[in-house]
Amino acid sequence: MDPRAVLILVAILVAEIGCIANGNFVFPVERRKRSLNAVKAHDARRRGRILSAVDLNLGGNGLPTETGLYFTKLGLGSPPKDYYVQVDTGSDILWVNCVKCSRCPRKSDLGIDLTLYDPKGSETSELISCDQEFCSATYDGPIPGCKSEIPCPYSITYGDGSATTGYYVQDYLTYNHVNDNLRTAPQNSSIIFGCGAVQSGTLSSSSEEALDGIIGFGQSNSSVLSQLAASGKVKKIFSHCLDNIRGGGIFAIGEVVEPKVSTTPLVPRMAHYNVVLKSIEVDTDILQLPSDIFDSGNGKGTIIDSGTTLAYLPAIVYDELIPKVMARQPRLKLYLVEQQFSCFQYTGNVDRGFPVVKLHFEDSLSLTVYPHDYLFQFKDGIWCIGWQKSVAQTKNGKDMTLLGDLVLSNKLVIYDLENMAIGWTDYNCSSSIKVKDEATGIVHTVGAHNISSATTLFMGRILTFFLLLTTMLNN
Ligand SMILES: *[C@@H]1O[C@H](CO)[C@@H](O)[C@H](O)[C@H]1NC(C)=O
Ligand SMILES: *[C@@H]1O[C@H](CO)[C@@H](O)[C@H](O)[C@H]1NC(C)=O
Ligand SMILES: *[C@@H]1O[C@H](CO)[C@@H](O)[C@H](O)[C@H]1NC(C)=O
Ligand SMILES: *[C@@H]1O[C@H](CO)[C@@H](O)[C@H](O)[C@H]1NC(C)=O
Repeated sequence: MDPRAVLILVAILVAEIGCIANGNFVFPVERRKRSLNAVKAHDARRRGRILSAVDLNLGGNGLPTETGLYFTKLGLGSPPKDYYVQVDTGSDILWVNCVKCSRCPRKSDLGIDLTLYDPKGSETSELISCDQEFCSATYDGPIPGCKSEIPCPYSITYGDGSATTGYYVQDYLTYNHVNDNLRTAPQNSSIIFGCGAVQSGTLSSSSEEALDGIIGFGQSNSSVLSQLAASGKVKKIFSHCLDNIRGGGIFAIGEVVEPKVSTTPLVPRMAHYNVVLKSIEVDTDILQLPSDIFDSGNGKGTIIDSGTTLAYLPAIVYDELIPKVMARQPRLKLYLVEQQFSCFQYTGNVDRGFPVVKLHFEDSLSLTVYPHDYLFQFKDGIWCIGWQKSVAQTKNGKDMTLLGDLVLSNKLVIYDLENMAIGWTDYNCSSSIKVKDEATGIVHTVGAHNISSATTLFMGRILTFFLLLTTMLNN
């Protein structure tokens, strides 16, 4: 969307919900708070960098028949209130549903209580106006038509067509700083995030797996990770281990010292975490594919995204792969369930009856996808194939390769933005990892979590929360 259009939309919305109507009254107060923050920021800088490891409690699972997403709990405001947000490595900003928002969910079937963020309910909340540096940096220049009392807008459209629009605010984020083995203490940092005013698609009230918002772990300067790193709180390295067997898992910010993983380079200057997929192997056979099918130049390449439930392959790849996957079971008949999944009847052990699929990446890193990962049980004796034919296309009309929780679950995945690399290894996501505290050099254990959530069955609730369009990107 054109930033001007977003600006007008947000100005109307904010006027409607009454935030800016009393702008003359709000702004002197804002300014005073800002200078107070500047003092705190200055103090923090003088105390030096306090690089620490952060433990994010995870809940949910990647099963399309259950939640189909992973979420975490974080604190916002002062005093801090709890918010449950989807963790998404395919988008960049943190946003939460705000008071008086339009079509925001109020209830969730995930067994969690939803909370609307209320700027007036937090002593430290500040509006970010469109003439502030963060806003012009986000939009890659000054915003046309900006007046100081107009809030800085945000608007994101995700891969599934759902969208969120609102304006940026600044407030305290409270997170779990790892201070001992399997122990954490709350720590906070002032960050800028989106206050959601209008939601649509799966983000609106109709959604059964409703959450308070989304935390984007993308690379842009506007992400929480980049903001924490810029204020010297963390290194730009994070990892996740998504447990689709038992739910929840591990999500940590900080340098992982155990387990060790091999890595593949991240394609630079991409809006997402793009890697170079070279070939696919099924039962020791390399699929015969056009050489440029996963070509990584100019917006192509393979996207790694925890916010997507399944895995999407170009049609040519899918049509080669599926017959190979089914080759050991020539008598099985595939039929369509819910108009979208290819399913079959099978009562044996899927790991014995079906082949392992290996994805080979640049620098000899491979990713092994087991039958119990890429097949999911629809109901007793009925299994469905998780691999999907790509529906999204890149700018130059090529089918996109998008690897979501289907292939990322039950692996420790490390995103090392300091070295622009990503790596993974098979891992037990109910166990623990060892993360180094940069300030002290001490290594601490970070364990798995499982924010309790109701087990609900939503067949067909597959999410593709990677960023499709945004006015924030300047690639
Ligand atoms: C942030 O942390 C400091 C130091 O622990 C604490 O005094 C302050 O109350 C915290 N602020 C919020 C908003 O939680
Ligand atoms: C992101 O932040 C870094 C460090 O503050 C800065 O050098 C860089 O220009 C910023 N990038 C963009 C795209 O604004
Ligand atoms: C995974 O780790 C958990 C916790 O340490 C342990 O109880 C479980 O047996 C492990 N699972 C496997 C398959 O090793
Ligand atoms: C995680 O929570 C879900 C839902 O409450 C539960 O079914 C599952 O057994 C839990 N997993 C673990 C490892 O405790």
